Amino acid sequence: MSLFAGNALRAAVRPVASGSTTSLARAAAFSTTATARLATPTSDDVGASGKAQKLKTFKIYRWNPDKPAEKPRLQSYTLDLNQTGPMVLDALIKIKNEVDPSLTFRRSCREGICGSCAMNIDGVNTLACLCRIDREKESKIYPLPHMYVVKDLVPDLTQFYKQYRSIEPFLKSKNPPAQGEHLQSPEERRRLDGLYECILCACCSTSCPSYWWNQDEYLGPAVLMQAYRWMADSRDDFTEERKTKLENTFSLYACRTIMNCTRTCPKSLNPAKAIATIKKEMSTGAPAKATDRPIMPAQ
Ligand code: SF4
Ligand code: SF4
Ligand code: FES
Repeated sequence: MSLFAGNALRAAVRPVASGSTTSLARAAAFSTTATARLATPTSDDVGASGKAQKLKTFKIYRWNPDKPAEKPRLQSYTLDLNQTGPMVLDALIKIKNEVDPSLTFRRSCREGICGSCAMNIDGVNTLACLCRIDREKESKIYPLPHMYVVKDLVPDLTQFYKQYRSIEPFLKSKNPPAQGEHLQSPEERRRLDGLYECILCACCSTSCPSYWWNQDEYLGPAVLMQAYRWMADSRDDFTEERKTKLENTFSLYACRTIMNCTRTCPKSLNPAKAIATIKKEMSTGAPAKATDRPIMPAQ
């Protein structure tokens, strides 16, 4: 099935118009009993812990593939922030554990390492475990934009991983050492800084308008930065073959240098610069030595 053929699925990822009367009514209607209880301050505005309550509402995108006739909606949950950890992932875990176990999202490390908790929080693609809760206003949380949705906040990353596999993200050497390790100088190793730290969270690719509209052909910033990570590796002997695979209208050149990718990266990496470097090398030729390549500094 073409990525853009499934209108029903596309409808599933379309954000609910938060300002419309119907969506607000729908969100309110789906507040759980437990949430309503949490949201009701006691007469002296003191929570069960004896601390003053600090209430905040999270409006969270819900869609259940087992109920395809039901449209996606925003569901409201109100928590006492004095009973919740400081990060958005803490709030999601609290909701799932104590209010609504049907809420579905991915997470693993809660340290910004695994990349699985990527989602759109208050309009920004980021990692829920690294995103501090804004204590002053309500928050809206959606899955990563313009992706098929598996359920609630879980995007379908099948195409993203297929594209990652296509760039052969591993060392390819024509003359590996007969024995021992394949060594690099410290200077050659430094050329991988700003590249190897990518956790493949897909925040950048799903913030890129070119990727939204050409996802079936354009590789997107995350995958292209990994393509460059192997081109820049002094031990890899397939740089030219890797570039040849990108020599077409869409794989690389659909990047329009809009820079959303770099702006949103929760690891402060610079995929737009990596893409620009590939384009430059493809037009002017590769540098003579790996150490002539630029270092990708963190933003
Ligand atoms: S470059 Fe940044 S935003 Fe993109 S996948 Fe890697 S860590 Fe995530
Ligand atoms: S710089 Fe390229 S990859 Fe990054 S957001 Fe813009 S078009 Fe997408
Ligand atoms: S839970 Fe691993 S990056 Fe957030």
